[in-house]
Amino acid sequence: MFFKTVRASALSPGMAANPYCDGNDVVGLPWVCPTAHRPTCILAGVPMPYWTDKVALITGGSGGLGSALGEAFAAAGAKVVLAARNTERLDSIAAGIRQAGRGVLAVPADVTQQADVENLVRRTIDEFGRLDVLVNAAGRSARGQVIDTTPEEFAELLELNFIAVVRCVRAAVPHLLKTHGHLVNISSLAGKAAVRYVGAYPATKFALGAYTQQLRLELSPGGLHVLLVSPGPIARPDATERYADQSAGLPERARKPGAGVKFRAIRPEDLSHAILRACERRRPELVYPPAVRFLLALGALSPRLGDWIVRRLT
Ligand SMILES: NC(=O)c1ccc[n+]([C@@H]2O[C@H](COP(=O)([O-])OP(=O)(O)OC[C@H]3O[C@@H](n4cnc5c(N)ncnc54)[C@H](OP(=O)(O)O)[C@@H]3O)[C@@H](O)[C@H]2O)c1
Repeated sequence: MFFKTVRASALSPGMAANPYCDGNDVVGLPWVCPTAHRPTCILAGVPMPYWTDKVALITGGSGGLGSALGEAFAAAGAKVVLAARNTERLDSIAAGIRQAGRGVLAVPADVTQQADVENLVRRTIDEFGRLDVLVNAAGRSARGQVIDTTPEEFAELLELNFIAVVRCVRAAVPHLLKTHGHLVNISSLAGKAAVRYVGAYPATKFALGAYTQQLRLELSPGGLHVLLVSPGPIARPDATERYADQSAGLPERARKPGAGVKFRAIRPEDLSHAILRACERRRPELVYPPAVRFLLALGALSPRLGDWIVRRLT
């Protein structure tokens, strides 16, 4: 394998910090490295663990995908900041990560509150001195026919699933630009193709998709990696009860994850692993499971066919 060599001082800050380098200031670039996404010290001859000593801030870190992501980033060598409102659950996830010998900070925060978001980013920088990843995972779905969904219900869900992301992004981006880091927005397949009986949810995630694309277009030339993640239903213990109180009068399947979409539920650990890899490869989008991209492409070519596919699958 051919390696192009450059002076470490010419690399982005994250790439230059190679703990395995023997001091000779020469590293392989990721785009010519055999592992593609892992900067490799060619003199020491060992792969550099990409996440070592990077700092990842995850909103919605007290449960579901957010806590799985916290554990995955920590296991990969990153220091982790977890944010959510429920202090007890947050502390319990953080304790597990700390017990495994990893750096972790739990910050109680309501991401719909500007002061909480500013405090969250400030505490991250005070504690760890840098920020390499922001994952906006805090969010929730809903149930209900869209015609019965009130403007107030739209506004409330938009506040959490979209406006709160705008708050977190604006607070974190100055720090992420310094490290040429990663901005990860967790959307949903419902942000690619709307489904029935989920009220305002698809509209909030479509908005998030547009915002994320704009961020990518405007900020990636400055070295920031921007990733939109669009997963199908994620496995969870309370899957069938979660939306029971909003599902009166809807078909039985509307209570289920993804309002009954016929996809196998994704293990949060598998999705977390895929998100870390998509970051390492600086991919713009992650649709999960990946095969769904084909169905989405058909729907984009023909809305009539797209509606037929959605009806068949839900
Ligand atoms: N579950 C699925 O099937 C699925 C599928 C596709 C996409 N997604 C998306 O994936 C993300 C995570 O979903 P999940 O199912 O893992 O969710 P979850 O288990 O319900 O967890 C949501 C997290 O967000 C936090 N949160 C909620 N409101 C918050 C607020 N105002 N401020 C701060 N934190 C808040 C919750 O903690 P506190 O309550 O302690 O604040 C919790 O940690 C969401 O954006 C969701 O839309 C989920």
